[in-house]
Amino acid sequence: MTTKIINIDLAHLENSENDIKYAAEVIRSGGLVAFPTETVYGLGGDGTNPHAARAIYAAKGRPSDNPLIIHIADPHDAEAYTYTSDVYYKLAERFMPGPLTVVLKAKDSVPMETRGGLSTVAVRCPSHPVANRLIALSGRPIAAPSANLSGSPSPTAASHVIDDMQGRIDVIINGGDCEIGLESTIVKLEDDGALTLLRPGRITVDELACIAPVAIADAVTDRLAEGAVALSPGMKYRHYAPESPLVLLDGEVESVIDYINAEKLHNAAIICYTEQESIIKVAIPTAHIFVLGASDDISEQAKKLFAILREADKHNFSKIYAPLPSREGVGLALYNRMIRAAAHTVINLRQDNNG
Ligand code: TXA
Ligand code: MG
Repeated sequence: MTTKIINIDLAHLENSENDIKYAAEVIRSGGLVAFPTETVYGLGGDGTNPHAARAIYAAKGRPSDNPLIIHIADPHDAEAYTYTSDVYYKLAERFMPGPLTVVLKAKDSVPMETRGGLSTVAVRCPSHPVANRLIALSGRPIAAPSANLSGSPSPTAASHVIDDMQGRIDVIINGGDCEIGLESTIVKLEDDGALTLLRPGRITVDELACIAPVAIADAVTDRLAEGAVALSPGMKYRHYAPESPLVLLDGEVESVIDYINAEKLHNAAIICYTEQESIIKVAIPTAHIFVLGASDDISEQAKKLFAILREADKHNFSKIYAPLPSREGVGLALYNRMIRAAAHTVINLRQDNNG
């Protein structure tokens, strides 16, 4: 299959109307289009077409019991596909369009293929202008997982999508780098109006708690127990995993340096904060260094993480060391992605903490 690549200049979106119309027509006729959102790139197909859902699973190499999010152009469009409630509209008013996905009871209009056989379906109204226009012009809810091959980090730039999807899908829309860089926050809206956080993202637990009580699913921070049923099917799969083992180090930069030097590895990589770069370069001159961003700038770190993991994958490092993020605020999203990429391998280098 030849993949058509459409480049869009966001500053002059009106010039791309015909290109987006073309992509919308591809969606309507059952084809697949990768498109930018404010979180990560999505791999879109018609959410009402079971064949499109199957094609998405095939293009990603993804198990078909892992349900897709349907993307809508307006929060009210959820009525056609789900049973909404007051709490849904309170969430919508506060956070939509934006990086929030809400899991609701599904109507029969959503094919089982799209929702991975579940009785619920996840809906999201993205704020990215290209995503929004594509959905509106297609006149369909767009089912879209992240546009990566299953098991690799979500794409935050069109080049990542091209690496993974060229030749496998009809269209890739290049709208530049994604602003947030981590996937949307996912909450399940329970029957009693409470929320369960299934995946942390830019919208934090504290922000959600202003709308309704929030419980955090165990799998957000902990390894899923053997035989446990995942609330969100995606949580049971190993995710975002670089080819080289990733190890998270919890400690001050001095103890991190001592630890890495004692391991005496050739060809290791270190992911560090901006202010640690020069000291690590001097102390461990053989290591390949990736700078995640300033230690207090979680937005910058979130934006860069997946690109760094992808870049690291090209080098065949013996090991990749990275700092353990805090779980505060948006930090929880970074923590969740990194702990899973590291398959929960954390080394505690803090003397004050024996637990
Ligand atoms: O930011 C995002 O959410 C991006 C962009 C493209 O919108 N999409 C995305 O989709 O990250 P995906 O498929 O890579 O991740 C969606 C996650 C999966 O782990 C899936 O298991 C879970 O959402 N999910 C989808 N429908 C669900 C449902 N009905 N109940 C529970 N979890 C669900
Ligand atoms: Mg994904």
